[in-house]
Amino acid sequence: MDERLSAAAALFPPVEVGADIGANHGLLTCHLLATGKAKRMWATDLSADALGHARRNLRARGLDDRVTFAVGDGFSVITEPVQAAAILGMGGQTAAGIILSAPEDRLPAFLVLSTHTELSVARRSLYERGYEIREEALVYCGGRYYVLMQAERTPGAEMPDERTLFLGPGLMRLSTETYQAYLRKKLSAYEPSRTPEGIRRCQWLREEAERAAADSACSP
Ligand SMILES: C[S@@+](CC[C@H](N)C(=O)[O-])C[C@H]1O[C@@H](n2cnc3c(N)ncnc32)[C@H](O)[C@@H]1O
Repeated sequence: MDERLSAAAALFPPVEVGADIGANHGLLTCHLLATGKAKRMWATDLSADALGHARRNLRARGLDDRVTFAVGDGFSVITEPVQAAAILGMGGQTAAGIILSAPEDRLPAFLVLSTHTELSVARRSLYERGYEIREEALVYCGGRYYVLMQAERTPGAEMPDERTLFLGPGLMRLSTETYQAYLRKKLSAYEPSRTPEGIRRCQWLREEAERAAADSACSP
């Protein structure tokens, strides 16, 4: 478990039955079962080879009898209600596709989500399915920044504006050095862009960097 998976586990609520969608190595599932945070888990993956990896890791730790392994796309292979699901380590479009295509009666109360790309697409998909982002965590791990989100199904949750979807409603409460360095890195990625969207995003990042710097200067 590296810092990214540890942060995901910290955001995963205690459950009777949980799911790790796109489980691959299955290390998150191992951790949730071993720590007692989940009594049972579904470990699913589009790839049978990847799921074989999870199966071997769980068997080696004597945890496989508490796991249902299923090969297939997103929630479509989960045949019972789960209280929380993790969707980690995919692109934003893929994760959004999994959330948007999930059958209504399979959507859990909580989702833990982290995507490598297109965070605003992933965040939008959460609100489109009636979730609200409760918390976001930022970790720097293996030379990369990762944003992890915990979202809860919340009747009446309102879609945030474009700026909030881009910056992240949870990240916008941070002012740490790591967050400021993350904003500088994102700004350097968007600065060469001359499209209206790229220019708008640079402006949001500059404003947010100023806000975070001012808040950190004020904090004791
Ligand atoms: C990079 S791995 C991430 C593994 C683990 N979740 C993590 O974050 O360390 C992404 C995994 O997602 C799986 N995957 C991609 N699209 C999927 C989908 N629509 N449904 C289920 N699994 C999917 C891939 O086969 C792959 O094993």
